[in-house]
Amino acid sequence: MKKSSPGAHIIKKDLKKFPKIPNVTNYEEAYKNFSWEKAEKEYIDFFPDGTMNAAYNMIDRHVEKGKGKKTALLFESATGEKEKYTYEDLRRESNKFANVLESQDVEKGDRVFIFLPSIPERYIAFIGILKVGAIAGTLFSAFQEAALLDRLADSKAKILITNAVLFPRIQKIWKDLPHLEKVIVVERGSLNQPEEKNLVFYNKEMEKASEKFEIVHLSKDDFSYMLYTSGTTGKPKGVVHAHGDVLQALVTTRDVLDVHDDDIYWCTADLGWVTGVVYGALGPWALGATQVLFEGRFSPENWYKVLEENKVTVWYTAPTAIRMLMGSEVKPKDYALSSLRHLCSVGEPLNPEAIWWSLEAFGLPFHDTWWQTEQGSITIPNYPIMDIKPGSMGKPLPGIIAAIIDDKGNEIPQGEEGHLALKASTVQSLMKQIWGNEEKFKSYFVGDWPAGHSLGDAWYISGDKAYKDEDGYFWFIGRADDVIKTSGERVGPFEVESSLVECEEVVEAGVIGKPDELRGEIIKAFVVLKPGIEGTAELIEKLKLHVKKHLAGHAYPREIEFIDKLPKTRSGKIMRRVLKAKELGLPIGDTSTLEDY
Ligand code: WT7
Repeated sequence: MKKSSPGAHIIKKDLKKFPKIPNVTNYEEAYKNFSWEKAEKEYIDFFPDGTMNAAYNMIDRHVEKGKGKKTALLFESATGEKEKYTYEDLRRESNKFANVLESQDVEKGDRVFIFLPSIPERYIAFIGILKVGAIAGTLFSAFQEAALLDRLADSKAKILITNAVLFPRIQKIWKDLPHLEKVIVVERGSLNQPEEKNLVFYNKEMEKASEKFEIVHLSKDDFSYMLYTSGTTGKPKGVVHAHGDVLQALVTTRDVLDVHDDDIYWCTADLGWVTGVVYGALGPWALGATQVLFEGRFSPENWYKVLEENKVTVWYTAPTAIRMLMGSEVKPKDYALSSLRHLCSVGEPLNPEAIWWSLEAFGLPFHDTWWQTEQGSITIPNYPIMDIKPGSMGKPLPGIIAAIIDDKGNEIPQGEEGHLALKASTVQSLMKQIWGNEEKFKSYFVGDWPAGHSLGDAWYISGDKAYKDEDGYFWFIGRADDVIKTSGERVGPFEVESSLVECEEVVEAGVIGKPDELRGEIIKAFVVLKPGIEGTAELIEKLKLHVKKHLAGHAYPREIEFIDKLPKTRSGKIMRRVLKAKELGLPIGDTSTLEDY
């Protein structure tokens, strides 16, 4: 069936009503006139020899241009202490950290991973890693040994930066990580430091380190950071990004998030996920913005206080958090939030109700933005100046070509559902590699590719299904694969199944995402037990705890159901869509490949 936009409730925008003129005042004009070459000349500083470094563009150039005293980071710790870092401070600290890394023989291309809570050292380390030309890997602090081992082993990480609280998880797996030479321990927040050989202590090394550092000269295509992300099959894959990504990160922070020089900007995402890297570091700092970092946990009180006390003007957050705020007894009207000027959301579908709520609660609508880890920056957003059609993700970024295509890469008519795809060569921040897995990398593209190192005319296939309406707005329908999005975090069913199968009572498990009003989806596991084992409530708790403790705190199944047999293809692959259809009471669909069930 041909789809068109639901139409009725469009939020109209009027340039005259903006308290501050947005950085893009006419989307159609911007789309027509935009060129990445022009943007690069305007926004990116190259060294005289034609090379570059993202960290220089994030920090040092602002200091050289006289903005060294501007606040770069407003930090509040979990226990309420506040710290302020200027661009000059971040330059000095990251230079020192780059020297610490060099003293540990870190070289261009080495993998250096960061496993820390949201404290300034995490960011200083990140910038320092880019300065030496190593590849920064960031890890979510809820990861447990299994998730850590997969990532550190696959990337052959040489150095890891962590703290005393998180170190025990590394200690358990270090013997299985022959490439991990040293662990740098950040002392903040803990009196008792671990003892073990090959530990290096942050404060001690930083005290000795010089404040001067010659930033390593790189090309736009040299690797900057990598993040492991989940697909349907196999272990998480290392998505590798390059220094040149900083251009699209900056342009989108400026034009989509609409960050101005005097804004106080807060991106709530953790540096362990791509939004935290790109919009909590790369983009805002490359633009020279002032941003907030809050170490504490989410709660409506905590977050409203952060917004109020810092007088946040631009806020980038996620649908699950918005839904939790909507459902809370704690109301925004009890806080002084009039500084807020522009609100954006990412990570999962933003329900129209959330937009209606935010209009009432803050007098401002949330603007949905769509992109993925692999894409490295926003690609389909709602611009501030664009009329909002609640439920739509928006329109393509100027400079980027997006389309709905069929399996063969042909564009399909407007209004019909298909694969949401981007013309690969138009996405400046597109991943450069899947670490050590060329075949997987290639599987993302259809069409004329690869031609040497160029992306040719190929389409990058997102794995999302969508349609485009009569006005060029894109509407999200769902994933084309079995990837689960729970509270905005991407979880591969295979990882959870593997973790469950580690339990002695379990024969096998099939894992799906089950729609959930608050979390978008929750993880549900169907588990087959060994003969004679009883599926008790205690066992359910035991299995949940196992996944929480060994894989990751956020990736455990909130629901577990015991069944006798899993639906499988004749070749033995678990058919998760059959489990999902049964769970939701939907038709099972094509079962020609299903073995007797
Ligand atoms: C997947 C990518 C990009 C930063 C965080 C997520 C889903 C993302 C939206 C949106 C509907 C969305 C898609 C996508 N997704 N944004 N605005 N509306 N779905 O990055 O973890 O790589 O996940 O998140 O399914 O493919 P990620």
